[in-house]
Amino acid sequence: MTTTRVLTGITTTGTPHLGNYVGAIRPAIQASRRENVQSFFFLADYHALIKCDDPQRIERSRLELAATWLASGLDPELVTFYRQSDVPEVLELTWLLTCVCPKGMMNRAHAYKAACDANAAAGEDLDAGVTMGLFSYPVLMAADILMFNAHLVPVGRDQVQHIEMTRDLAQRFNHMFGGGRDFFVLPEAVVEEQVATLPGLDGRKMSKSYDNTIPLFEGGTKALGEAIARIVTDSRLPGEPKDPDASHLVTLYEAFAEPEQNANFRNELRAGLGWGEAKQHLFALVEAELAPMRARYAEFMAHPDRLEDLLMAGAGKARRLAQPFIAELRQAVGLRRMLAVARASPGESDGGKADRGKLAAPSFKQYREADGLFYFKFTGPGDRVLLQSHGFAQGKEAGAWIQKLKADGGAVLASAPVVLPQGVKPDEVLEALSALASS
Ligand code: TRP
Repeated sequence: MTTTRVLTGITTTGTPHLGNYVGAIRPAIQASRRENVQSFFFLADYHALIKCDDPQRIERSRLELAATWLASGLDPELVTFYRQSDVPEVLELTWLLTCVCPKGMMNRAHAYKAACDANAAAGEDLDAGVTMGLFSYPVLMAADILMFNAHLVPVGRDQVQHIEMTRDLAQRFNHMFGGGRDFFVLPEAVVEEQVATLPGLDGRKMSKSYDNTIPLFEGGTKALGEAIARIVTDSRLPGEPKDPDASHLVTLYEAFAEPEQNANFRNELRAGLGWGEAKQHLFALVEAELAPMRARYAEFMAHPDRLEDLLMAGAGKARRLAQPFIAELRQAVGLRRMLAVARASPGESDGGKADRGKLAAPSFKQYREADGLFYFKFTGPGDRVLLQSHGFAQGKEAGAWIQKLKADGGAVLASAPVVLPQGVKPDEVLEALSALASS
């Protein structure tokens, strides 16, 4: 069975909360343990620079995210875990793709269009505040994916368009430079429909922008307990029956419970379990899963050098794939080692002799003229005549001088029966003679 390569990027701008854990981190780590799956997880820190110009925040978020993923059970032996910015080949590929990317395609990207719409609504110039980073964000993302020829890319709904663009760019590049070979696999987006987005304290989707999040590790047990205490419930008193389906507290519970535990919890609520007690049950359940991870998280946060080592090892693994691949891609587009280049239309005027002459090594040619005498000439690159002999009555004499010049070169040049054509310098002749001697 062939291996499926799964790749996903984590933008390093915020501090992960419980919703990120349930919606992204936990399922991704579980999926990475499947057989025949090769996973690539990376911190999309180049992407983070698009949205954030606060260096401290970038630094802190990279640290927290690396610690979070590793503490949550990501196995760096099993998975290739790296920082995007430690794999500069990604940027090189970004440029190759940028050069095949139609501008019109970027005009249609959701994030850019949203910025334009907001500007239009505010009566601003459409491109106000739009950087080239934001505009060409999808090309960088395509490079992330195509660099490792990922088959599957788990993403949120909002990212599906970017995967479609990635396929488009891959196809264009294959077509333009593949010469019958497909450099790039066409990736597919995986949107996990059944992973319910976790509700926040107020029942809306848990999100930093709603200020309704439950922290994952930061703030420890205490912060977790305090957040759970703030979950909004209805005003039914203990003893009154409650509708489990109408409570987001139950949805939170469900995200951590075994099916049987979940069924019991629902029954207890129907039977009148008070909200205060229900919150304690929820806290105990979540804490049981998080506590061991939180301890590992604290360890990593206290020893950033360990994270650094793990990430650099991951970058090494990634680059062992990226470097030879980017070398092939450079070849494909014509960024090659310089060799003699065939002219586009050889021999327009001379049947291609000039081209062949350019490649020719220096050589002696002996011939007989109409005057009955024997001659030789010595030619260099481009068939340029470097030495012209006098005429000899005997072909043997001409041959003997050729042998002497080949054997002794410069030492016999002064006494040889030859002339240097106009414009030929002795150095040029000596160089050609020694090139011939060493060939
Ligand atoms: N743009 C993605 C997001 O905001 C993060 C990301 C960057 C990504 N590069 C990627 C996701 C490559 C999948 C594959 O969520």
